[in-house]
Amino acid sequence: MSAFMRSAITGVGSYLPETIVSNADLARIVDTSDEWIVERTGIRQRHRARDDQPTSDLAVEAALAALKDAGRDVGDVDLIIVATTTPDLTFPATAAIVQKKLGVPVCAAFDVQAVCSGFVYALSVADGFVARGQARCALVIGAEEMTRLMDWSDRTTCVLFGDGAGAVVLEPVEGRNTPADTGILGFALRSDGRKSDLLYVDGGVATDGRVGHLRMQGNQVFRHAVINIAEAIEAAAAAAGITIAEVDWFVPHQANQRIIKGVGERLGLDENKVISTVSHHANTSAASIPLALDTAIRDGRIRRGDLVLFEAMGGGLTWGACAVRL
Ligand code: COA
Repeated sequence: MSAFMRSAITGVGSYLPETIVSNADLARIVDTSDEWIVERTGIRQRHRARDDQPTSDLAVEAALAALKDAGRDVGDVDLIIVATTTPDLTFPATAAIVQKKLGVPVCAAFDVQAVCSGFVYALSVADGFVARGQARCALVIGAEEMTRLMDWSDRTTCVLFGDGAGAVVLEPVEGRNTPADTGILGFALRSDGRKSDLLYVDGGVATDGRVGHLRMQGNQVFRHAVINIAEAIEAAAAAAGITIAEVDWFVPHQANQRIIKGVGERLGLDENKVISTVSHHANTSAASIPLALDTAIRDGRIRRGDLVLFEAMGGGLTWGACAVRL
């Protein structure tokens, strides 16, 4: 009988561009204040990429850090998936550009587009490759330059987003098909295209040919997030064969401290088990979960063997969750 294979996260890395934009900086260009932004969102600052620094550059920095953490070399990589909403170019995929910049020889490389849920979606795709023996060293990268999509005259959106990248290395590990296994244990992925008007970019290749600006009905997105993420978390836990009470750490998509708190309260989570980094990088879309994961590993909170639950929600609307034992 062949062994039961799981995909394990063996390395984590992240990168934030140097330039920091504070709430006070934004208050100089739109009618807002540090007080309003902090109270409604928990955000204190965001990072912004240089004009000459495309998404792939952020992805490469995060990928190199994750490979180093895993003790792997670029020559080991046989799959690259980039979750992004802000690709360098319409095509090729940002993953192929990252492959070129890293110097990875021929491998599989493509992008996944599920906006802020992109990292969880990309992880599920990579899990399929790794657990089925089709990849032995996969890079799953969330990389975004959301500031490129902002309408800098719209105070209801431009204060919420930032740029950044996070990456994990996935490798096969033998399991026993029990929740005590190391590696990815279960997913729940969701989309409801009927709600696409709540959060979208008003331009595109096959419509008006523009890049467009992000548009959002903030309070409706907020309501949807708090109500529906909880269901996906419970479904992912059930798929993994674990209970929510067993989870050591929740690593939510970092959109807004009030959403993180609302979901936590709905599920009765201990807030000391919820990782929050939104104050220092704002909403970096598909990059936010690996950025938060990396922060909490580096500061010693999340350790090998911990049971971790990722959850996200974004344009589509898409949402989802993933349970993993590190
Ligand atoms: N500064 C100051 N005032 C602002 C503002 C800003 N940056 N943005 C909006 N306002 C104003 C509005 O114009 C409105 O004024 P009005 O009452 O005179 O019309 C008032 O604040 C309240 O607006 P509202 O949209 O009802 O506020 P809110 O409490 O819902 O907070 C969000 C707005 C965007 C912070 C909140 O809806 C939210 O977090 N939504 C989820 C957004 C998100 O995270 N999306 C990404 C998911 S991936």
